[in-house]
Amino acid sequence: MQTDFLVIGSGIAGLTYALKVAQHCPGKTVTILTKTQSDETNTKYAQGGIAGVMDFDHDSFSKHIDDTLVAGDGLCNREVVEIVVKEGVERIEEIIAWGANFDKDPDGDFKLGKEGGHSESRILHHKDVTGKEMERALLEAIRTAPNIQLISHCFVLDLITQHHLGYLVTKSTPDIECFGVYVLNLNTQKIEKITAKITLLATGGNGQVYRSTTNPAIATGDGVAMMYRAKGRIENMEFIQFHPTALYEPGVRGHSFLITEAVRGDGAILRNASGEAFMERYDSRKDLAPRDIVARAIDNEMKVNGTEYVYLDCRHMDQQKFIEHFPNIHAKCLSIGIDVSKDMIPVSPAAHYSCGGIKTDAWGQTSIKNLFASGECASTGLHGANRLASNSLLEAMVFSHRSYLKSVEMIHSIDFRNDVPDWNAEGTTAPREKILITQSLKELKLLMSDYVGIVRNNERLRRANKRLDLLHEETEALYQHTEVSPQLCELRNMITVAYLVVKSAELRHESRGLHYNTDFPDRSAILQNTIL
Ligand code: FAD
Ligand code: SIN
Repeated sequence: MQTDFLVIGSGIAGLTYALKVAQHCPGKTVTILTKTQSDETNTKYAQGGIAGVMDFDHDSFSKHIDDTLVAGDGLCNREVVEIVVKEGVERIEEIIAWGANFDKDPDGDFKLGKEGGHSESRILHHKDVTGKEMERALLEAIRTAPNIQLISHCFVLDLITQHHLGYLVTKSTPDIECFGVYVLNLNTQKIEKITAKITLLATGGNGQVYRSTTNPAIATGDGVAMMYRAKGRIENMEFIQFHPTALYEPGVRGHSFLITEAVRGDGAILRNASGEAFMERYDSRKDLAPRDIVARAIDNEMKVNGTEYVYLDCRHMDQQKFIEHFPNIHAKCLSIGIDVSKDMIPVSPAAHYSCGGIKTDAWGQTSIKNLFASGECASTGLHGANRLASNSLLEAMVFSHRSYLKSVEMIHSIDFRNDVPDWNAEGTTAPREKILITQSLKELKLLMSDYVGIVRNNERLRRANKRLDLLHEETEALYQHTEVSPQLCELRNMITVAYLVVKSAELRHESRGLHYNTDFPDRSAILQNTIL
């Protein structure tokens, strides 16, 4: 199969880019691949909303820029922050024109929420299901574009580069080029090659590397792992954001339900086992301090009090307003016997967002030619050491737009590569037992949660590294001799991502933003990204 534009991922980043290139180039083909159902993405689960300066009477670009820079703790690229904040408003208007609805007050003004680290109320939202609404609008718009083909249940295995044509490709090879991808088409159970002139990686996050995460099962870091195997540049992987308030449900680990930060924005208070509003002891911004601070404070309270959770107290809030703004959370809590007007909600931190990823320039271009990256898999320079809440939907739209601008400039000078060989499955057989994969996955999640979580130290990182080595060795052996399956490939990808997180964490001899190492508790004077 050949396609002019190949988009891997059907979340906000992939769909935005696909729509734009398709509309601009009606004579060109656009193919979107997604590994499960088309709407099963991190995007669908976004709750709080999308940050944007809409109320110029109270807010300004410079305030949003400053808030983003403060959260990023010295490592944001200021130029990129300015681009995202300023261009973001136009992108928000665009998605509204494509049919996304955001809540308004009776005067027709947007209801703007507030979240941690924001100095003003600037979060547009659709109740507490903003991502679902944006994903719906984008998927509907995609269906009206005749030159877009969306193929679900199509698992991308690897990027095709000169390596597959028989050339030696190393990190120092100049001009590594992407010619498309190999995919496991789950509809046909065949491994196919898709050649493309331009490819966009929009594969989302990697929360599944941890035992407890707000991310759905698809978030296994496939794009980052593929990029690393293709010898492309990856940066800042140590900055894993833990959301402070995932719902604590005994026995539920893989995909925890989120209690959006907007609930604290509307006045909810965190309390420890003794009922104390403990955030006052940690930061003057209390419950609305940036996420890294709140998550560390909760982690500390849980350790000191020997509990597995703290509480979020919403009992004093206007219950009518609560139900209006957070109907999904209200219903979820009721379904497990929590009446938020009477009961406090048990919450604990969970892996939520990867600030680092595939390094791009200000136009979404990666270190590999004809390969772009946008959304959570990319590291654009916006987030630095810690992402400001609700900045990621915005970043995805801005960078997919910029990638589109650059792509349509380039497309006419690129030809298809016709000498790409088929996938070589020689010497592989059906797996004898799947338990080897599931057991290794459990081990991986456990080691990452125990040794590479919110608080780290050198000994824990060393241990994580050693255990990862063994998991890597065993999984590579399995991969060499077994027919590929999404489960095996995801395990392999997650081991790679975990390795990148640990390696980057080991390279950072300081504590900054989301990376807190008790052996290096201070910030270093040297500002640098960890590039692998
Ligand atoms: P995704 O939406 O995750 O899409 C990834 C796509 O890639 C999927 O279609 C997947 O199938 C595909 N894919 C991955 N690997 C492969 C493969 N090997 N082969 C084929 N396809 C593949 N951000 C905000 O700004 N505001 C919020 O309020 C907010 N709330 C959040 C709440 C939750 C619970 C979560 C989990 C995240 C939240 N975020 C929020 C973060 C934000 O939702 C994500 O960062 C963003 O949606 C990522 O979009 P994306 O397009 O990059 O990736
Ligand atoms: C939330 O709604 O709390 C999540 C917002 C985000 O991750 O940006």
